[in-house]
This record gives sequence, structure tokens and C-alpha cells, in this order.
Amino acid sequence: MTDRVPVIAIDGPTGSGKGTISRSLAHKLGWHLLDSGALYRLVALIAAQKSIALDDQRGLAAAAADMVVNFSLAEDAEQVFLDGTDVTTQLRTEEHAAAASQVALLPLVRAALLLRQRAFAQPPGLVADGRDMGSVVFPDATLKVYLTATPKERALRRYNQLKEKGIDVSLPAVSREIAERDERDANRKVAPLKTAEGAQVLDSTGITPEQVVARVHSWFAGLDQSAS
Ligand code: DC
Repeated sequence: MTDRVPVIAIDGPTGSGKGTISRSLAHKLGWHLLDSGALYRLVALIAAQKSIALDDQRGLAAAAADMVVNFSLAEDAEQVFLDGTDVTTQLRTEEHAAAASQVALLPLVRAALLLRQRAFAQPPGLVADGRDMGSVVFPDATLKVYLTATPKERALRRYNQLKEKGIDVSLPAVSREIAERDERDANRKVAPLKTAEGAQVLDSTGITPEQVVARVHSWFAGLDQSAS
């Protein structure tokens, strides 16, 4: 393997399990984690806090460049701090998720976040979770995975996740919201959600997170062996 910092890029649509898998893989390897969706959600949160319109590209790009963010990672939980305040719960609402997907359409916002995201690649390695990790942010990633699951399974997972957090939602509403976000994320002009060149596609429908992590880990370990 080269002396570059190894990166495992995990992309996929909402509810594909990327977050859980990436966190758990980063923990298993003792690597850093980039939750790139959180950065887009943070921009959406700042927009709401400071009344910046979701089509004010320059205002949002400035917020993306200037925001002071810290992440902390435990075995199965990530905390996100904005200006020292814990905003983890706020970030997970459907309202900010929907706004994040709109903010993510703006090229200047994506450009402002690009270098911030690349800076996460620090030794001993990085697991990067998002929509364009393998295609745009880390095109030379050591391993690229496109994680997916059927729309029905993804909606159900998301619904259960929100319920667990005490957020009151209905399954049809979550399904509709996911379909709208999929459509926006896959069809935008800049860095659309797609299977990156060279990515391994993994359909997680009906398999446990532990099995998914084990599969990705074995792909990575296989690469490591073939390089040594
Ligand atoms: O992964 P997530 O649900 O936290 O992402 C929230 C939104 O951010 C998602 O709808 C699209 C956008 N996003 C993006 O455009 N590119 C990324 N690398 C990550 C997220």
C-alpha cells in the first residue's frame, strides 16, 4: 500500500445504513470518521438559526466555510458540536435533513465544504460517509463502497430510527420524504448521488449491520493482503 492515508468511502442513499456501518467500521479499525451529511445538515441548521434563505448561495457558502465544528465519536454514537454547543439531536430532525438536501444543491456550498472534508483524512485512516465520497471528495480512496437497500427497507429503518429518538412521524410520510430526497440527491447537477467508478455495490436488505461491516472489512483486508 502507498504512504497515503487510507480512505474507505461509503456512499449511498438515505436509510441505506451508511451512518451505522461507517461508525462501526471506523471504531473497529481505530480510524477517523467523516460524517459528511452532518456538514450539510449543519449549514441547514445555521440557515435556520440566522434566517439565511435556502437559495442564498453566497450566504450559505460563507456559513459553510466559517462554521466552527467538532465531532466526537464513541463506539455507537457520534456527537456534533457547533460553536461548542451540542447540536446532535437538532441535526437529526427531518426538517434539517430536507433543508440539507436543498443546501447540498448549491455548488458554492459544496466547494466550501470540499477542503474541509479532505482535511479529515488523517493517519491512521478515514472512513468517509456520504453521497459523493468516492466520486468527488476522495476519488483515489483505497476502497469505495456503494451501500443500498430497497426503498421499503430504507423507509422502515429511518422510521424506526426516528421513533427511537422520540420523534413523531408516520411511515408513509417518511417514505415520501425519502423518495423526494433520493430524487433531489440523484438528479442534482453537482456531485449527484451515484455509484462511483470502481465502487463495490452492497445491498444490505435483509442482512445485519454486523454482517455488512464484516463484508466491508474483509474487502479492505483483502486489498491490504494483495498489496503486501
Ligand atoms: O447523510 P445525511 O442524511 O445526513 O445527508 C443529508 C443531506 O446532505 C442529503 O440529503 C444530501 C446531502 N449530502 C450530500 O449532498 N453530499 C454528501 N456527501 C452528504 C450529504
